[in-house]
Amino acid sequence: MQGRSRLWTQAGLRIGFVPTMGNLHAGHLDLVRAARRIADRVVVSIFVNPLQFDEAADFAAYPRTLEADLAQLEALGVDAAFVPAESTLYPRSREGIAFVEVPELSDVLEGAHRPGHFRGVTTVVAKLFHLVGPDVAVFGEKDFQQLLIVRRMVADLDFPIEIVARPTVREPDGLAMSSRNRRLDAQQRAIAPALYRVLRETAEAAGAGGEPDELERNAMDRLADAGFRPEYVAVRSAEDLGPPRAGEPRVVLGAARLGDVRLIDNVRIS
Ligand code: PAF
Repeated sequence: MQGRSRLWTQAGLRIGFVPTMGNLHAGHLDLVRAARRIADRVVVSIFVNPLQFDEAADFAAYPRTLEADLAQLEALGVDAAFVPAESTLYPRSREGIAFVEVPELSDVLEGAHRPGHFRGVTTVVAKLFHLVGPDVAVFGEKDFQQLLIVRRMVADLDFPIEIVARPTVREPDGLAMSSRNRRLDAQQRAIAPALYRVLRETAEAAGAGGEPDELERNAMDRLADAGFRPEYVAVRSAEDLGPPRAGEPRVVLGAARLGDVRLIDNVRIS
């Protein structure tokens, strides 16, 4: 992969990169199309990264659909699919390996509920950046906290890579596209769009001057009433996920479980 990228870079070609864990859906394909528009060569990685799963069962259940994924990437004219084996990325025991961590940003919200998750994400993304050597990498806003953390890592560690964000792609009923949606049964699938609905209405109320603590409590109650086990709903600064500050962009983020499927989503406050 590094050799191929070097040849492209030496030829003056701009490399675009979309890191994924596979099981591609329309949200991923939107990221790939965006990379296609802004780069001369597009690389997509598919790697289910064990380091970022805090629950072994979630890692085991993560859908793996490599053949179908490769067919979709080929149809989009992707120049390289990088599909490393676990033993390629982690040749030694995972105990004691060097890691990349963005403190503070990684400790709140998702990080508080999934200890070690973001350390796993930043470590693998740093490795993939070194292996693929892109000029630009495209990430979805669906994983809003991940996007901020990757931007911070790139800025703090001087990766010469531009990070481009794409809006969340949604099903017609509003549910954010996610590989985990396929694990919802029919009843859970019918409930799932309520997460977006509640976050959107919370964002509207926050935009109209509502008090964040009260809005968060109310949203948690509504999610529980709809049949979720809500983990958090938080009105935060969209810059650093700190408490919302007057005049700064804000976002409402939420995570909730339906059975053993964990869904996340977020809505900007206008
Ligand atoms: O967003 C994802 O799918 C993953 O966290 C990523 C960025 C591919 C790292 O494994």
